[in-house]
Amino acid sequence: MNVHAAALADAHLPDKQTSAFARDAVQDLSQQPKRLSPKYFYDATGSELFEAITRLPEYYPTRTELSILRDRAGEIASFVPEGAALVEFGAGATTKVRLLLERCAFAAYVPVDISGEFVKDQADALRRDFPTLAVHPVAADFTTAFELPAAIAGLSKVGFFPGSTIGNFEPHEASSLLRSAAQILGAGARMILGVDLEKEERVLHDAYNDASGVTARFNLNVLVRINRELGGNFDLSAFTHRAIYNRERHRIEMHLISKKSQHVRFLGTSFAFRPGESIHTENSYKYSIERFAALARASGWKVCESWTDKSRMFSVHALMAEG
Ligand code: AVI
Repeated sequence: MNVHAAALADAHLPDKQTSAFARDAVQDLSQQPKRLSPKYFYDATGSELFEAITRLPEYYPTRTELSILRDRAGEIASFVPEGAALVEFGAGATTKVRLLLERCAFAAYVPVDISGEFVKDQADALRRDFPTLAVHPVAADFTTAFELPAAIAGLSKVGFFPGSTIGNFEPHEASSLLRSAAQILGAGARMILGVDLEKEERVLHDAYNDASGVTARFNLNVLVRINRELGGNFDLSAFTHRAIYNRERHRIEMHLISKKSQHVRFLGTSFAFRPGESIHTENSYKYSIERFAALARASGWKVCESWTDKSRMFSVHALMAEG
């Protein structure tokens, strides 16, 4: 048993998700530069903070994507086959999917999300509001292979991947994800996917450094989780949120910056921080229409339509699986 394994055993970690968090946090904070995976932002508090972010005046992606989905609902409805199953990769608030369900003739809806409890609640509400729709939630990590429910085997499949979540993956990971989605959905599948666009740096900067500090709390929440779930002793007041636009790599980077020289401990391991040292917590890649189309093409999808808002802030793409 190595030192980490011993510490993990000591911590009486309750479930698989917590032990993955423990393993990743210890490994990722032992790297230079230090990092933490953005997937650990989303406990109950993190999910609420993210919902609050989507309502911020500075955070344009959510409302802009919704406006595109609303404006293009007719075109989306004619793109998707009648009686198809809509498979959503990662299921958050249901506002966007409701818009599609109201306007398109889907026979079934399959929300796929790691939080089984969350999708179950959302599914119950949708069953009430769309009584003829078959809702089959799947509790799975959509970044790894998963099986679609047998009940939708005979239906055409339409993937739904909104919110520019694709932008939180490295481009090579985004490509594997698109490939695996094509495989899971099968021959002839279609997909509706939202992608944030490159734009003036000030707009991007403000969207990730909001004046009311909600994004800062969202970022710091990952340290709160380490303290609570892994027995850490992070002093939250000794770290500060920073989001910068890396133009060369077309991405917003979120960091937590240590304000001083300090040591933090959890799971039997001590982590030293220099003043100004960063924990890199998230990348949010921004695409041009052309760069996204190239990524989709290289990942087994043909781009049939790309829609944007008037100011070209955000884009929604209609894709068809090739081959
Ligand atoms: C979920 N994801 C697309 C958000 C984004 O914009 O990259 C997460 C986020 N991070 C900070 N603000 C929002």
